Amino acid sequence: MEVVILRDARDVGRVAAGAIARLVRSTPDAVLGLATGSSPLPVYDELARLHAQEGLDFSRASGFALDEYVGLPEGHPQSYREVIRREFTDRVDIEPSRVHSPDGSAEDIEGACAAYEEAIAAAGGVDLQILGIGSDGHIGFNEPGSSLASRTRIKTLTEQTRRDNARFFPSIAEVPHHVVTQGVGTIMDARHVVLVATGARKAEAVHGLVEGPVTAMCVASVLQFHPHTTVIVDSAAASVL
Ligand code: GLP
Repeated sequence: MEVVILRDARDVGRVAAGAIARLVRSTPDAVLGLATGSSPLPVYDELARLHAQEGLDFSRASGFALDEYVGLPEGHPQSYREVIRREFTDRVDIEPSRVHSPDGSAEDIEGACAAYEEAIAAAGGVDLQILGIGSDGHIGFNEPGSSLASRTRIKTLTEQTRRDNARFFPSIAEVPHHVVTQGVGTIMDARHVVLVATGARKAEAVHGLVEGPVTAMCVASVLQFHPHTTVIVDSAAASVL
């Protein structure tokens, strides 16, 4: 695990976007793992800038989102499919039909999760997974206690995560209780993981990720076993290291 500590969120976005840009330049048909939350937003801003100003070409790339809320109507502005469209894919030239999200409104959720795993495998697996981290150490929506070998499935959010994410909704009552998320095992299959975290609110989780014991109580700590993980943080998020 490589840990890169930078001054602020903008630098974190710039360095993480640099890793993605290098991949897409060398492997134009790269498969990107796409994350939501506020931490990756500066990464997407920088990728959009590189596309607009330097012609960074995503036309042959594809993408798989990490997770999705269950029960939000199609097109809901906070559904992760919409967030990824708005924040990233609409701002570059990636082909919309090659950007996939777990289906949080499927009648057969289990079947949809299995189909999602198959689609990732059929694309050849994820070359580079962008990740944030929850304040409780979750990745994707794999909450504390998740099986470290899990695959894409439905999960129940903890109250802490619902509170953390309430800022994106008119009130906490509107934050869904359930989600579909790639499993920890699914995330571990990505060939390169680039995790970004900023702000003092993430300091404890980053400590668990980098220096803690590997435990399902801080799911991100399993990345200590991943052969190629780059953790990019600002000084506030690194303050307990
Ligand atoms: C959500 C997402 C995670 C994300 C986390 C942290 O729970 N499912 O993928 O890492 O939020 O979000 P933020 O970066 O906004 O703190």
